[in-house]
Amino acid sequence: MGGEVVFDPGRASEKQKRFFLARAPFIAYGGAKGGGKTWAVRTKAVGGAIVNPGLRVLIMRRTYPELEENHIGPIVRLVPPEIGSYLTTTRRMSFFNGSSIKFGHWSGELSELEYQGQEFDWIFIDEATQFTERSFNYLKGCLRGVSPYDKRMYLTCNPGGVGHAWVKRLFIDRDYRRSAANPEENEDPADYIFIPATVEDNKFLLDSSPHYLRMLSQMPENVRRAYRYGDWDALGGSYFAELRREVHTFEPMRIPPHWRRYRAIDYGLDMLAALWIAVDEEGRSWVYREWTRSGLIVRDAAAGILERTLPDETVDATFAPPDLWSTQKDTGRTMEEIFRSSGVPLVKADNSRVQGHMLIKDMLAPRRDGRPGLLISRSCGRLLSDLAAIQADEDNPSDAAREPHEVTHTVDALRYYCVSRVAPADRPRWEREEEWTADPILGGEPDMDYLMYC
Ligand SMILES: Nc1ncnc2c1ncn2[C@@H]1O[C@H](COP(=O)(O)OP(=O)(O)O)[C@@H](O)[C@H]1O
Ligand SMILES: [Mg+2]
Repeated sequence: MGGEVVFDPGRASEKQKRFFLARAPFIAYGGAKGGGKTWAVRTKAVGGAIVNPGLRVLIMRRTYPELEENHIGPIVRLVPPEIGSYLTTTRRMSFFNGSSIKFGHWSGELSELEYQGQEFDWIFIDEATQFTERSFNYLKGCLRGVSPYDKRMYLTCNPGGVGHAWVKRLFIDRDYRRSAANPEENEDPADYIFIPATVEDNKFLLDSSPHYLRMLSQMPENVRRAYRYGDWDALGGSYFAELRREVHTFEPMRIPPHWRRYRAIDYGLDMLAALWIAVDEEGRSWVYREWTRSGLIVRDAAAGILERTLPDETVDATFAPPDLWSTQKDTGRTMEEIFRSSGVPLVKADNSRVQGHMLIKDMLAPRRDGRPGLLISRSCGRLLSDLAAIQADEDNPSDAAREPHEVTHTVDALRYYCVSRVAPADRPRWEREEEWTADPILGGEPDMDYLMYC
């Protein structure tokens, strides 16, 4: 034995070698399932940590069980203790040469706080299409530090999932954003490399599981095209595929005073989502303001909602989910009572999901005059991006998916509005020339980032 330390990750396929050798800030390896992507992530991360002293690596996966099964477990088994030791409490493997691999999973807003201020040289996002563009942008912010190493992000991806649209835009369609106003925010095509993978590239899998291809071939045509060949057009529509920027959004404007106003909220300690919606004389709904915030107790949520409602805005009703009417074990009170005593009386909305989502779709459909029944201000970037990102539920395609949880809050608030009965505005008593201006709370600058997909 002679005290020799054995570390043998195996031999890479041709595509995996291309992934290892690629040099660019953003490298995506993708397409088919079973193409050897996760293996490549593990091997590149560990190899990089060993070869480059002091390298700081982050490996991300959407959920902890997947992270444990695909990364922590296999890497702990692969790396001998003389080379690297894993500490469960910090979920970090420290190497003999000062390098480290941190293992993380994305749990929405909590992760935004967790990764704020952390620095890494290389970040791997395994199954990046399970991540929202918002979380990708947060993680991008962690690519920094004073080490001599080039900062890089390695992504793996299959078509479909909540991140389908942004991954496809950056790596498949190569449709890059240019802004004359902020040239420093331009995306440089040279920064993005895509290495396609098909199942056939992974001979290790084909040798060990010959039935795998047969299993793939029995799947529905679109799933098969996406999973076997990595076809990006086969899968991956949002649940609200009908959403279009030209059709469903409007420039921020001052809402005519005689229109009726409503609010709709979804509340949890993890996230408050509040929408302000006006109804015109024809019964058409205009979402004109939004507010989302995590970590608010009910009293502060109510205060924030009131603060963002202008003094001359009379709100006819604020719709909310029925669970706010359940008695809290510790206080014996309901959250609805606290909202009410804090100045925000609530109206209980129906919580049937499928019916509610169908009603949103119904309101997005064109009316007789060709315009939809529901329009959203371009300043409501969070609602627009959540509607564009939310997928159909895999088990029940007539429902929207409940995961990732972070994109459901504003959509739920909109659903509580859409299932509730609202009245159209009365005709104004006199016609007044209104100068329509930007919303005084949100301002007039639409958040362009979120408008790419609708
Ligand atoms: N170069 C390789 N050497 C040995 N086994 C490999 C190699 N590449 C992939 N595999 C194995 O093939 C299977 C599928 O690979 P995986 O990386 O999980 O694919 P993907 O993440 O693309 O779905 C796994 O069992 C993995 O360990
Ligand atoms: Mg994988």
